[in-house]
Amino acid sequence: MYGNANGAEPAESNRKVTVPDIRARKRSGPALAMVTAYDYTMARLMDAAGADLILVGDSLGMVAQGLANTLAVTIDEICYHGRSVARGSTHAHVVGDMPFMSYQVSPAQAVESAGKLLKDGAFESVKLEGGEAMAEHVARIVRAGIPVMGHVGLLPQSVHAMGGFKVQGRGADAAAKIVADARAIEDAGAFAIVVEAVPPDVAKEITIGSRVPTIGIGAGGQCDGQVLVCTDLLGMTRGHTPRFAKRYADVGHVIVDAVRRYVDDVRSGAFPADEHAFRANDGRDGGEGAKNLSPRVPEVGEIETRTPAVRLPH
Ligand code: KIV
Repeated sequence: MYGNANGAEPAESNRKVTVPDIRARKRSGPALAMVTAYDYTMARLMDAAGADLILVGDSLGMVAQGLANTLAVTIDEICYHGRSVARGSTHAHVVGDMPFMSYQVSPAQAVESAGKLLKDGAFESVKLEGGEAMAEHVARIVRAGIPVMGHVGLLPQSVHAMGGFKVQGRGADAAAKIVADARAIEDAGAFAIVVEAVPPDVAKEITIGSRVPTIGIGAGGQCDGQVLVCTDLLGMTRGHTPRFAKRYADVGHVIVDAVRRYVDDVRSGAFPADEHAFRANDGRDGGEGAKNLSPRVPEVGEIETRTPAVRLPH
């Protein structure tokens, strides 16, 4: 009785985006658009909108679990969400984040965890945080036939070492270190590199100097692609959102408004109305009623957007 993929709109192109496609965009463009998703429904919508890559980020700890940082997220949780997202992604390449302490211990641990993400999480590639110190880990995973996306600059899994979620690479030495980190990860075989929260000049230097695409978040407009957390992009995030996170919609308000009207209707008796009830003979003889028990999933273009009438409580 729940909505599913039946009747879902076709993606921009139904062919899966591959690792060679992503590498080729460095030369040919257009810029890569990556977004996070953590469940089937969100992935289906992101896929239909033409996202090139969907990342099941360990940001799920903050977005889906309400935690203060990403450190508690487990590899089994990433795999669980990955299987759901993979079912909703017919076009986008699906990347799985390697959570804290699933790879840092040793290159052997990194290969084992990356393998688990592909086997149990249905991912097509993995992402891990870190620069020169993680180069051997990346090389070993790549040698096992698993594509790796790097992640340099602000490393959320090092939140305590970095003293908070702070911009990185300010000052010549710090900038040079991040450029060297990106080079080491590329040389180790990464197929793309996320560059997070660094000044645009640093991201530009990395982008110009690398043969693989850079995907920026809070790193200016010179990268080969961009990534945003889906709830930031959609306006569903509670409280502070970072300056770089452009809000394309106010979905949080739309949800609160819709649910508030539902609550009012239930309390007043306006819902359910006659048209929401089954007739006495519905489905008994295999007639119309039997066929229509599942609600139809609306096409993306059919989803009504309303001007928000209420403010989200913070
Ligand atoms: O976990 C995550 O969502 C990320 C992106 C913000 C790059 O790492």
